[in-house]
Amino acid sequence: MTKSRLFCLLVVLGSAFMVLFIIVYWDNVGTANINFHTSFSKSLPTHLTEEIPSSLSATENNGLSDVDMFLDSFLNFDTKNELPSTKEEKSAQRGGSNSFEENVRGYDWSSRTKLEEGFLDQELIQEERKFNLRKFCGNSSFNFPTKDRDFDDIPNKELDHLIVDDRHGIIYCYVPKVACTNWKRVMIVLSESLLDKKGVPYQDPLEIPREDVHNINSHLTFNKFWRRYGKFSRHMMKIKLKKYSKFIFVRDPFVRLISAFRSKFELENEDFYKSFAIPILTRFSNWTNVPTSAGEAFSSGAKPSFSQFIQYLLDPKTEEEKPFNEHWRQVYRLCHPCQIDYDFIGKLETLDEDAAQLLRQLNIDSLFPFPPSYRNKTASSWEDDWFSKIPLEWRQKLYKLYEPDFVLFGYPKPDNILKV
Ligand SMILES: *[C@@H]1O[C@H](CO)[C@@H](O)[C@H](O)[C@H]1NC(C)=O
Ligand SMILES: *[C@@H]1O[C@H](CO)[C@@H](O)[C@H](O)[C@H]1NC(C)=O
Ligand SMILES: *[C@@H]1O[C@H](CO)[C@@H](O)[C@H](O)[C@H]1NC(C)=O
Repeated sequence: MTKSRLFCLLVVLGSAFMVLFIIVYWDNVGTANINFHTSFSKSLPTHLTEEIPSSLSATENNGLSDVDMFLDSFLNFDTKNELPSTKEEKSAQRGGSNSFEENVRGYDWSSRTKLEEGFLDQELIQEERKFNLRKFCGNSSFNFPTKDRDFDDIPNKELDHLIVDDRHGIIYCYVPKVACTNWKRVMIVLSESLLDKKGVPYQDPLEIPREDVHNINSHLTFNKFWRRYGKFSRHMMKIKLKKYSKFIFVRDPFVRLISAFRSKFELENEDFYKSFAIPILTRFSNWTNVPTSAGEAFSSGAKPSFSQFIQYLLDPKTEEEKPFNEHWRQVYRLCHPCQIDYDFIGKLETLDEDAAQLLRQLNIDSLFPFPPSYRNKTASSWEDDWFSKIPLEWRQKLYKLYEPDFVLFGYPKPDNILKV
């Protein structure tokens, strides 16, 4: 190679690098202004009514998606083979858009054509839930820890409940004890993140073995982004948060606690026995020799009571050692609802209607029905019973601990168990 050719090559490479640098810098400046907090002041987040995605992609978002794509291929560490499948082609056709990205990723931003019965009611319910959430996030007299934290200040490890499906542009924040097994199954099928024994991605959510559903390796979560995108990871998160449809399912916080207690302490569970029942029994029961295994404990009747479990939750020492386990950690700490502008807030109390509506809104209702749940659900009507043996003062303290979840998601204060 001659000297002048080498020089030319260097100039070309140098300019390419400058362009990349400028794009990234410009884009960073652009998105640094996304203030998830004040974005609540904009009238209604209508990502799912299909107006925003198209209008955004026509205007300022074009810049974002180009950079997104560029970075994606540039940082292509382990992006999956993204040949459009038939389904994706279909959805791209339905969307009527030939945008490269839609073809590659298979989004379906197509406008809704059928107005099914109950659809409007469901939309109103969603608007109400989102309005309530925004109202309290923006209310400076309503406070709780981490409320005013910026998205950028949320540590990576606290973003481990946000599951991303790049194929359809969906983000799900899972809350244990709120039908999360089924929604995780749905996310695995959508993102084709797991292969069955024949080496083909699972098509039927119910075929996925339970242990694989809960295996962290089956999901792409935000806390893993740094491995894929390095120093661009926050940037990528923000782009995806802006462009994708984000959903969450919640449940009455006290009923969720009862449900967690039932499944982790009333059933023999070695891991939970060792990590939680032993400390609970040691600190709050009169057992002198706490059995060392769940089997032994169950045969000798050494089980934490619900009241000891509550004591454990209220004891400040508990969180000094380790944050609450995800099964009883507050939703506001798992899913950051004041930092992330969820498009859909489902509730376990209306799971069937909400699931059907969500699948329809995401345009994936033709792929499979939402898997039924067979488990013995904890009913809200049990609350009085379960709390009857808990001292009033503890119940009130417990309410304080979970108040943000009650308020943000519109669950009325359970006065019947908080007053004498
Ligand atoms: C703001 O929160 C406080 C405390 O929870 C409440 O009393 C007040 O009514 C709220 N304001 C609005 C406008 O919702
Ligand atoms: C433990 O023993 C003390 C004294 O006998 C009793 O007051 C307390 O209620 C017991 N606690 C439990 C959890 O059984
Ligand atoms: C569901 O659980 C409750 C309490 O654990 C129990 O009383 C009831 O029999 C169970 N129902 C079924 C159908 O298993």
